[in-house]
Amino acid sequence: MTDLPSTVHAILDRAGPLLVDGEWVDAIDGGTLPVFDPSTAEELTTVAAAGPKDVDAAVVAARRAFDEGPWRRLSPGERTRLLWRLADLVEEHAEEFAVLESLDVGKPIVAARAGDVRGAVAVLRYTAGWADKLEGETLPLAAPPDGEYHAFTVREPVGVCAQIIPWNYPLVMAVWKIAPALAAGCTVVLKPAEETPLSALRLGELIKEAGFPPGVVNIIPGFGETAGAALAAHTGVDKIAFTGSTEVGRQIAHAAADNLSRVSLELGGKSPNVVFADADLERAIPGSARAIFTNAGQSCGSGSRVYIEEPVFDEVVSGIVAEAEALRLGPGLDERSQLGPIVSARQLERVSGYVDDAVADGATIVTGGARPELPGWFYRPTIVTDVRAEMQIVREEVFGPVLVAVPFSDYDDLVRRANDTRFGLAAGTWTRDLRKAFRVVRDMRAGRLYVNCWSVIDPALPVGGFKESGWGREMGRAVRELYTEVKAACVRID
Ligand code: NAI
Ligand code: MG
Repeated sequence: MTDLPSTVHAILDRAGPLLVDGEWVDAIDGGTLPVFDPSTAEELTTVAAAGPKDVDAAVVAARRAFDEGPWRRLSPGERTRLLWRLADLVEEHAEEFAVLESLDVGKPIVAARAGDVRGAVAVLRYTAGWADKLEGETLPLAAPPDGEYHAFTVREPVGVCAQIIPWNYPLVMAVWKIAPALAAGCTVVLKPAEETPLSALRLGELIKEAGFPPGVVNIIPGFGETAGAALAAHTGVDKIAFTGSTEVGRQIAHAAADNLSRVSLELGGKSPNVVFADADLERAIPGSARAIFTNAGQSCGSGSRVYIEEPVFDEVVSGIVAEAEALRLGPGLDERSQLGPIVSARQLERVSGYVDDAVADGATIVTGGARPELPGWFYRPTIVTDVRAEMQIVREEVFGPVLVAVPFSDYDDLVRRANDTRFGLAAGTWTRDLRKAFRVVRDMRAGRLYVNCWSVIDPALPVGGFKESGWGREMGRAVRELYTEVKAACVRID
């Protein structure tokens, strides 16, 4: 820890309080949570953990900032300017954010820079541009009772947004949630995951520095079962946006139902990646490896089931094995690391549990399947074959660097098996045949489709899932539907 940049030491020393109503405050009941470096399993610092009273204070602040504050009445152009200013500030502090993200999640710093921080800045800038484009429509009445009318719609901010995010891309998730809500004129209570509060707290400092009015953004790290549950159930909340497990997503939906609050959910996945025999294997093999091993497999859109056409099955599997075995495992902050640890001891246990159960069920481990000789919560990149459709490792989201490889020969049978899942987040294929490519796009029941690439995440592309992968879409034009209400106005003019 001594070789950390002094700016990061300063952040770790400072990190602690909650951001409520524009002030940094300790948790009312004094709760704290420890923050670990997954690369060493050592504690980095502790931060305040919000309890129900802090959740209430944050919601009250957000409510006041929405109902009475200047925020909603700022011109859209002003909101754009503030979001753009925040983007500039994050960019100015890019290296600090990369280090924080790498320390907190364990992810390779190279990926934190090129993916997380760059992506967060891009989302802030893209979303800033929506603030002044949330227009309504002029509508000719279809069957007016009498007289003449001028009718139109306007879009208004939905109100106070409770936003609960996971630990896999903490900064990106915070920005995906906060930026569109702010662009629309909403106010926000953000609860980062208990595993990874650091970058959101630093973002809170920059939100203050950018000049957002007090109460517009409140940031309250805390545990899911206490702070998260209290936030989701709070009657002062108009809209809940959640990213995380399908299990908790279901609980959030129940909480939202009780209050009839709006809700959007971005949940788990078990995404099929189809490699046809005609594919350019020089791209398909490393691409399929990246589809699962990026972020140590801790991505909702990981390509965690690869279906390989029989004639090239052995060649593709051994190619992905070679890619996996060449990955340099190491601590996040090591510039040479290509695969970091799993975020927590609990998550590591979950991942290794799935693999051990698969072996007990008769599956074969082609590579990996164990922890390396490293401190911290590492798990070797793992490829599993000889699986049956009913096995947990084929059905459940493992959320670790674990790929199941399955051969196929008949296309219709492939489609049936690829779609035989309760999830529907992403799917993709590698082929040189246009017809096959478009058929896969047509036939997969998933919210994101990739052809000859994987996991291209862009602010302009909506993200979300079919089936139990969630409700609603984030990013792109979907921003409008997520954070606005439509008001229809009717004016008699004769
Ligand atoms: P989780 O769903 O428990 O945690 C995500 C967020 O929800 C965190 O901020 C947590 O504090 C909060 N939360 C937990 N319980 C809550 C509750 N009762 N009410 C309100 N908020 C609550 O996910 P966890 O336990 O970290 O990971 C479990 C599995 O979830 C993973 O193995 C993976 O399969 C999946 N997952 C999916 C993610 C995605 O991007 N779709 C992200 C993280 C996890
Ligand atoms: Mg949980």
